[in-house]
Amino acid sequence: MTPRPDPLAFLSAELESLKQQGLYRTLRVLDGEALAHASYDHRSVVNLSSNNYLGLTTHPKLRQAALDAVREFGVGSGAVRTISGTMAMHVELERRLAAFKQVEAVVVFQSGFAANAGTVSAILNKDDVIISDALNHASIIDGCRLSKAPIKVFPHKDVAAARAILEALPAAQKKLLITDGVFSMDGDLGALPALCDLADEFGCIMMVDDAHASGVFGRHGRGTVDHFGCHGRVDIQVGTLSKAIGVLGGYVAGTADFITFLHHRARPFLFSTSHPPAVTAACLAALDVLETEPQWMERLWENARFFKAGLAGLGFNTGLSESPITPVIIGEAALAMKMSDRLFADGVFAQGIGFPTVAKDAARLRTIVSATHTRDDLQFALDTMGRVGRELGVR
Ligand SMILES: Cc1ncc(COP(=O)(O)O)c(C=O)c1O
Repeated sequence: MTPRPDPLAFLSAELESLKQQGLYRTLRVLDGEALAHASYDHRSVVNLSSNNYLGLTTHPKLRQAALDAVREFGVGSGAVRTISGTMAMHVELERRLAAFKQVEAVVVFQSGFAANAGTVSAILNKDDVIISDALNHASIIDGCRLSKAPIKVFPHKDVAAARAILEALPAAQKKLLITDGVFSMDGDLGALPALCDLADEFGCIMMVDDAHASGVFGRHGRGTVDHFGCHGRVDIQVGTLSKAIGVLGGYVAGTADFITFLHHRARPFLFSTSHPPAVTAACLAALDVLETEPQWMERLWENARFFKAGLAGLGFNTGLSESPITPVIIGEAALAMKMSDRLFADGVFAQGIGFPTVAKDAARLRTIVSATHTRDDLQFALDTMGRVGRELGVR
């Protein structure tokens, strides 16, 4: 029998093309715990590539809460939330998150991605319009596409351009104005107060994706809405439980009616199984830690200031970062990947990021410090980056 031709063979050609552009990546494998100094691919490295801002992935209280939950409740919820998969601890987590974010209600999704994509697509349709920052996260973009509403993109943080778009739209049309709170590849903050002003003036639904701000900005890590004093001006806040919170999941915060509507219409909520008990219990423990152990946020920011100053002193282009995410912008993808590989070989894990995650000529190393890096870790990373950068002519 002649072998069946592989109908997916065209993908091999795509992969070859990625290799030629220097964009082909293999997955680094974490050998043990997700620590600030960790082992990947059997190599001990200072880990500058994790979203584990506060070190909560291995915090004893979260670990214990997860273990206790497995013993008491087992390993799965058994169903989607709307059928039989809502456990008392899911409801408790949402109650705690709503109090934390100072809103009426919260709904938890399986991930931040599902929260963004599920929310935007649930509340808008083809007759509405979305005004979106050019650097908004992929999950927002996918949610916008799923909604079928036209998407008007304004240049990154260009509030005047957003205004010009709004001025040209019919007053009666339903409008969503949407921005990241912290931009995940550049580390700068969304133009929140100015965008809230626009939302007020033009009657927009105002939405902020605070994935990288939860646990990092605002009082006890309440996010950029708290940081900028914009409570009551943002209709929809998205957060994740997968980054600073150290576990997994996403949530949407807003009014009680809005959240109840999502229970009825957000497709990831309706059609995908809810979190297992260990995940939910660990998230609850993380909220306790945020409220009672402010030292992690303090250390995070001390480390971020130290590392940013070090990178700037080395003459790297670190863009406009205002958060613990600091890019080292290199330009050409092949050079960024080469520098990332050289650093890894020398004990520093700073992932190279290229197109389509960032623009074609803006490939970079993306670094994130954590509260649990030691000064020695960070100094070693700076020394190594300085040396490798010099050798490769990156400045
Ligand atoms: C800005 C932003 N929003 C949403 C997400 C998705 O969050 P999660 O990893 O919880 O799905 C991410 C994660 O990459 C992100 O960077």
